[in-house]
Amino acid sequence: MLEIANEAPGEPGPGEALVEIRAAGVNPVDAKVYSGAFGTDPARLPLRLGSEASGVVIAVGPDAAGPAGPIGVGDEVIAYRAPGSYAEELVVPASALVPKPDTLDWAQASGLMVTGATAWHLLTATGVGAGDTVLIHGAAGGVGVMAVQLAVDRGAIVVATASPENHDFLRGLGAIPVEYGTGLMDRVRAAAPGGVDAALDLAGTDEALDVSFVLVPDRTRIATIVSFERGLNTGIKVLGGAPGADPGTEIRDAARLDLARLAQAGKLRVFVSHVFPLAEAGRAHEAISQGHTRGKIALIP
Ligand SMILES: NC(=O)c1ccc[n+]([C@@H]2O[C@H](COP(=O)([O-])OP(=O)(O)OC[C@H]3O[C@@H](n4cnc5c(N)ncnc54)[C@H](OP(=O)(O)O)[C@@H]3O)[C@@H](O)[C@H]2O)c1
Repeated sequence: MLEIANEAPGEPGPGEALVEIRAAGVNPVDAKVYSGAFGTDPARLPLRLGSEASGVVIAVGPDAAGPAGPIGVGDEVIAYRAPGSYAEELVVPASALVPKPDTLDWAQASGLMVTGATAWHLLTATGVGAGDTVLIHGAAGGVGVMAVQLAVDRGAIVVATASPENHDFLRGLGAIPVEYGTGLMDRVRAAAPGGVDAALDLAGTDEALDVSFVLVPDRTRIATIVSFERGLNTGIKVLGGAPGADPGTEIRDAARLDLARLAQAGKLRVFVSHVFPLAEAGRAHEAISQGHTRGKIALIP
């Protein structure tokens, strides 16, 4: 059950900052974490939800500095990693704060980091660079939209799977869209006559991995962030927080400044398809759990 709790945020201690949250990013894991997908141990409750947000610093403790330098009152920031970001105010380590690019509004800024850092990790782990053709399964969602833009920025050719209503959108990002489902292999072959060098599975379907295994000659250039068990049994890269997976903490944390820089330069955009009031987080979770979100969902306190 989701509940709103009234609780004082507390004072920031050394190396911490108090952030007035303007928007919190919604990710599938926020709903999965209390769905039973990760077990039903009541000792884990209550869970505070959320992991990323945008907002304004309203108080700082001594020695508050983030990766871009000292943090002060009034700074407009993105907070990631920020556990418990579904809140009006939150104390976070200042090391979690990077300056908000002014090209992004609050909702967009709240959705840059989880998906962006995951996409960065995927592309780094599979070595995607200029001249590569990369197949991205589930390309219209939060992580996919980031992976497409970052791969295009690296000079790769991107073949992107999505339902037909997202094809124009993906074309606009520079990808070659193909519909997933029966016949996917032939459609990808037609879209990439020169072959496929790397594949990223953000969909978690058997189809995504089956097609990738046939089309990508080198299994170390296939990565999944969803199919953990099958991935670990088949010699591909398995990325994320599950046992046996590579969390890529250093790569993901280091990516934050690059993501902010690319967003500031207008080379990386965040597409927010739905905004909900924080008090309606349950509705946001119903929406994201459908598995067909285009881009991101944000919550506004
Ligand atoms: N391991 C990690 O570190 C990590 C990090 C972030 C996310 N994740 C996981 O990665 C997955 C994707 O995250 P997200 O934030 O991008 O999710 P999302 O925003 O909910 O996007 C899901 C996307 O999947 C597409 N899709 C649905 N069914 C599909 C199918 N059968 N084949 C191909 N694509 C399909 C949808 O596109 P259409 O609407 O066009 O169907 C939708 O755009 C989630 O399971 C999430 O929990 C893992």
